[in-house]
Amino acid sequence: MSKKDIIRRIAINTGGGDAPGLNAVIRAAVYAALNRGWECYGIRDGYNGLFLPEQYPEGGLVHLTRESVKSITHLGGTILGTTNRGNPLRYPVTEKDGKTHEIDRTNEIVSGFHENNLDALIAIGGDGSLEIANVLAHKGMRVVGVPKTIDNDLEKTVVTFGFDSAVSFATECIDRLHSTAQSHRRIMVVEVMGRYAGWIALNAGVSGSADVILIPEIPYDIEKIASMIKAKQRYGKKYFIVIVAEGAKPSGGDISVIDHPTGRLERLGGAGDRVAKELEEATGKETRAVVLGHLLRGGTPTTSDRLLALRFGAAAVRALEEGRSNVMVALDPPNVRYVPLEEATKRMKSVPLDCDTILTARDLGIAFGD
Ligand code: F6P
Repeated sequence: MSKKDIIRRIAINTGGGDAPGLNAVIRAAVYAALNRGWECYGIRDGYNGLFLPEQYPEGGLVHLTRESVKSITHLGGTILGTTNRGNPLRYPVTEKDGKTHEIDRTNEIVSGFHENNLDALIAIGGDGSLEIANVLAHKGMRVVGVPKTIDNDLEKTVVTFGFDSAVSFATECIDRLHSTAQSHRRIMVVEVMGRYAGWIALNAGVSGSADVILIPEIPYDIEKIASMIKAKQRYGKKYFIVIVAEGAKPSGGDISVIDHPTGRLERLGGAGDRVAKELEEATGKETRAVVLGHLLRGGTPTTSDRLLALRFGAAAVRALEEGRSNVMVALDPPNVRYVPLEEATKRMKSVPLDCDTILTARDLGIAFGD
């Protein structure tokens, strides 16, 4: 390692939607770094603490010590704060005439990084935060990414931490909905997060014995679902559980969007209500919709997510020690390996239509509306 590569002081940040396991990554990275004699600082609210210092009279960086990260492995959320708005690559600016446009503010992050004498950054985030990390690495910052998202839609890692916790909770909710659906002989429609990928809906739907699972990767035909429900009713089935990914869409139709503010990703919502309304009309059967939404992001991480998050945090520090930059830690069972950040963020990881879980669902008689 040349003199300029010597690490004394690192920063850690958490960006995008929160996910169970963020705090476990922070703790593992801080312990591993302190054990190497490095100092650690957390950047508040994604990258904001570095490029929007005016928002932080108390300072945009927080000193991370053994004391400040002890006993946080099991806690949901992130002690550093996070944000999924104001992306510095496309930062929204409103002019006096009310018109809004977007500017790139990543140079300010690079300046803030050097002004604070930081030598490296561990960026924990999903596709958006890691895309920023990749740009920062190209601008000369030493950066290692850690993949996070309940959606599990990141390429090059078998799984992201947060996903297992979200699926476990969704499955528990579906289990609870069976008894009320059965008691009232209703159709219960359950909308789950996942953005444009159907991983949460598929895994929770199969595990929770759903009758129908609608995912973005398989556009659905409401008439086909209604016919299946009516046919099963004739054979004596009294209630139905329908899982709808928030990004599910009818064939020939669009996904359901609440709004799309400047500088932010569009907000998805309403897919479950739409399916519930149409199914009630098409079957004549009383239907209720439940949106699990942000409940999937909260709470304590499962053991599997905790362990993965701790492994990722420690591996990120080992990557820096080995002189790596512009890579993301990734799970490639049984190992954790390093992949170029570019490759991980180039495209979204969708559910393959021929994957074993889809085949299993079809063998169990679960319908996808196709
Ligand atoms: O990416 C994580 C996620 O929870 C998605 O599943 C969801 O579409 C989105 O974030 C919701 O974001 P927000 O916190 O802005 O409502």
